Amino acid sequence: MTRRILVTGATGTVGGAAMRALAPDAAAGAIELLGATRSDAGAARLRESGFEPVAFDYDDPRTLRPALEGVDSIFLVTGYSVDMMIQSKRLLDAAKAARVPHIVHLGALAADDTPYAHFGWHQLIERAIEAMGFSFTHLRPNFFIDTVWGAFRHRPDRVVHFIGDQRVSWISSDDMAAVAAAALREPDKHAGQIYPLAIEALTMSEIAATLSDVTQNPVTYQPRPAASLLPILLKQGMEPVYATSLATGVAAIEAGEMPLAGAVYDTVARVTGRQPITWRDYASARRTDLAAG
Ligand SMILES: NC(=O)c1ccc[n+]([C@@H]2O[C@H](COP(=O)([O-])OP(=O)(O)OC[C@H]3O[C@@H](n4cnc5c(N)ncnc54)[C@H](OP(=O)(O)O)[C@@H]3O)[C@@H](O)[C@H]2O)c1
Repeated sequence: MTRRILVTGATGTVGGAAMRALAPDAAAGAIELLGATRSDAGAARLRESGFEPVAFDYDDPRTLRPALEGVDSIFLVTGYSVDMMIQSKRLLDAAKAARVPHIVHLGALAADDTPYAHFGWHQLIERAIEAMGFSFTHLRPNFFIDTVWGAFRHRPDRVVHFIGDQRVSWISSDDMAAVAAAALREPDKHAGQIYPLAIEALTMSEIAATLSDVTQNPVTYQPRPAASLLPILLKQGMEPVYATSLATGVAAIEAGEMPLAGAVYDTVARVTGRQPITWRDYASARRTDLAAG
């Protein structure tokens, strides 16, 4: 029987990349691919991209069971809010009731005894997935290349960050998606695996130098103190509990006090059999997307 895969966060950065990574499998009839979305606009965008949307709102539990009917694997992705905790629990409860066997969870890279809240929440969700008896694959990415690129592409003369001169490790959404897709396609092969996702460690100055080189235009790093991050996140509308946790974690990174901040792993090559996407690769492939300077 064709495997049915539900990707949550399908309109977002990593879920969207996972949809694209699985599109050829769906087109070949090897899987049935459903993109979860809470809005009509999201459904329209998924349809325009050739995907099948399914109505799904973490905050409206009535939508969960119908979306999970007959599903074999779920890519569990939540956004940047403390709601991630209750949203994940609701999904896991509904998945258990619907007898979904396998969960691929998008978490975050941190030491097991991390004191920082949003990392801890991801760890508690991992433990719940295991305790509830799902077959699981845990993805633990570090810094997303896409997040920094998203700001840079609109202001391609500078990169701004709050981590000082610390060297931290990076991963692209396409590499996360490739690993997620492998696990979603072949759960038996990836069951019980924990996949740290971070492929190269660079300082922001090194990233600026790479971007200067790739774009053939000067790019400077403009460091901001980590202490200035919280008001910025709140002004952008981030939910305060999550914003506080994020800002506290970034301050620890700026101070050089975050274990694993610069750790790199061979997960992408090991799981996908291809070389991972470096910052240089990522920028070279998107050079033409940059706003005119
Ligand atoms: N950025 C980093 O450097 C980093 C590093 C490590 C880990 N992470 C983890 O990555 C995750 C976020 O991934 P991302 O960047 O791909 O997120 P994203 O682009 O913000 O996408 C979030 C997705 O969740 C959906 N969503 C939000 N609320 C929903 C609801 N109530 N019901 C159904 N869907 C809902 C959004 O749909 P709409 O389109 O409807 O809003 C969107 O598709 C977080 O768990 C974070 O901890 C991030």
